[in-house]
Amino acid sequence: MPVEVVNQSGRPMSLCRYRRMAGVLLRIAGLGHMHLGLLFTDARGITKINRQWFGRQGPTNVISFPMEDPGILGDVVICVDRAAEEAEQGLTTLENRVMELLIHGLAHLMGEDHELGDEHARRMAEKELELRDSLIMEGLMADLCINVDHIATIRQARGGNEPDPVLAAGIVELAGADGVVVHLREDRRHIQDRDVRIIREVVKTRLTLEMAATDEMIGIASDLKPDIVTLVPEKRQELTTEGGLDVKSLEDSVADAVKRLHDAGIPVSLFVDPEPDQIEASSRTGAECIEIHTGRYADAPGAAEQDMEFEQIVKMAGMASDLGLRVHAGHGLNYMNTARLAAVSEIVEFSIGHAVVARASLVGLERAVREMLALVKGTA
Ligand code: PXP
Repeated sequence: MPVEVVNQSGRPMSLCRYRRMAGVLLRIAGLGHMHLGLLFTDARGITKINRQWFGRQGPTNVISFPMEDPGILGDVVICVDRAAEEAEQGLTTLENRVMELLIHGLAHLMGEDHELGDEHARRMAEKELELRDSLIMEGLMADLCINVDHIATIRQARGGNEPDPVLAAGIVELAGADGVVVHLREDRRHIQDRDVRIIREVVKTRLTLEMAATDEMIGIASDLKPDIVTLVPEKRQELTTEGGLDVKSLEDSVADAVKRLHDAGIPVSLFVDPEPDQIEASSRTGAECIEIHTGRYADAPGAAEQDMEFEQIVKMAGMASDLGLRVHAGHGLNYMNTARLAAVSEIVEFSIGHAVVARASLVGLERAVREMLALVKGTA
């Protein structure tokens, strides 16, 4: 991963958040493929570094170490104790102050130096402001969209009307999710036409419709007008979507589907495996987005295989982003394997379903039993 973060500050720091922050800043600056080291240290640590490398006494807030290596930008060392003091004095949050110091350190690594005179100081301040504004515009953390198909799967098991994915969509939004995802399958095994119609009406955030690129589905999407369509492959026998869309082999027909959806005013994402051929083909279809299939990463049998799949996703996310595609990710992500991906700055949205519904069935079980007990015992 291009950004490596080490925390020796003795304070809890979200490595995921700062790794992503640094990654977004590098990308904004056009340095997305450069490696950066970010070290959080305490007052003692930075005092030592300050003395050892610069012969200066006492602590400071940030120090940059540029590297000569063409692939490595350098290291930024931030003193979290000093950042916390400055945050208090400046009436800002620690995270905000750390962000300012990171930007300052990065500006140094990009060759700016305010100590060389007024003109240099003005130029550096301008650069820092530009980076800060772009970071805010870009939005720091990825969006989370929740797939409610699995609620519908439980409903369909009894053929009745509960639990209702429409209510689930409302709860998902109330909980703060950035969007709702439904997959209307050709065989209607979980989500039904009625569900998507009502969910489209009630969702106030964003609705993603996952679907196969068939005439029927393109017709439904064109009437429904979801905020985005994600084209997925569909096999009747599969338990869930098994692999990415083979855009490389189906480029013409996918491009045609993308065009028809665009004609209906709907942006399109393509669900693809993290493979260079698939991503290059995706960019040629005119789609504005890809969703990286994270199944191989999620199902990796061991740590080494998972590391390999992770690195592949990082590489492919960078490649897609360079080609001008927005990058989403999903499939098989759960409470153990998501945080690592959330630090990948090119991934701007996650689509997660099964793990959230599975967790809900357990964390909600106690309350559900208590409510039924109250009815049975007459204490309701
Ligand atoms: N993205 C796509 C394209 C999918 O088909 C699915 C599965 O419905 C998901 C994301 C979510 O996967 P999971 O339910 O494993 O979180």
